[in-house]
Amino acid sequence: MHILASKLSKTALTLLVGGALAACSAPEETESAATNDAATYNTSLDVKQVMALVLEPASDILWDSGGWILDASGYEELYPTTDEGWDYVRAQAAIIVESGNMLALPGRAEDNDAWMIYAEGLSEAGVLAMEAAASHNEEDFFQAGAQLYSVCTACHQAYNPDINNRFDDAED
Ligand code: HEC
Repeated sequence: MHILASKLSKTALTLLVGGALAACSAPEETESAATNDAATYNTSLDVKQVMALVLEPASDILWDSGGWILDASGYEELYPTTDEGWDYVRAQAAIIVESGNMLALPGRAEDNDAWMIYAEGLSEAGVLAMEAAASHNEEDFFQAGAQLYSVCTACHQAYNPDINNRFDDAED
């Protein structure tokens, strides 16, 4: 599917560039474009590192910025209260959006099936969180955080159930 997409965009480009030029260069370029695709991604961070170093820190900030906590002095609201605060969580949400793409890269994706759906789900939840942060909408922001959490646990359940057990242990 990946190769098909790059062939399609190559075709669009070819049409723009013009028939004569394309006629002599297209077949060769199509091949080298497919080879380059694999070579240009640096996937030296494995999935575990992307989780621990990129995705989890960003999501923790989102989850720590949505809702309320009850402590000795009463309810404390966790939502950002300033434009800068909302801008900051919006930037964390952008990391979530792009993390979905990072996980979908060849060399990281574990299959071309459910994994891709979870990776896309991650990006979708991130986009919702970005939109909610942009409009300072607390309710939508909270919902996006909940949706994000369900994507994390669904993918872990499918690909590494031990991770969920670790999360559960922390909560109990
Ligand atoms: C597309 C699937 C997928 C999604 C979505 C996903 N994870 Fe993971 N996650 C994994 C896999 C697979 C591992 C196990 C990696 C390994 O140990 O090799 C993992 C491991 C982890 C770990 C353990 C890392 C370590 O150091 O052992 C944490 C923490 C984690 N994920 C957090 C999250 C959070 C938070 C989210 C959601 C915001 C999330 N993950 C979403 C697949 C996913």
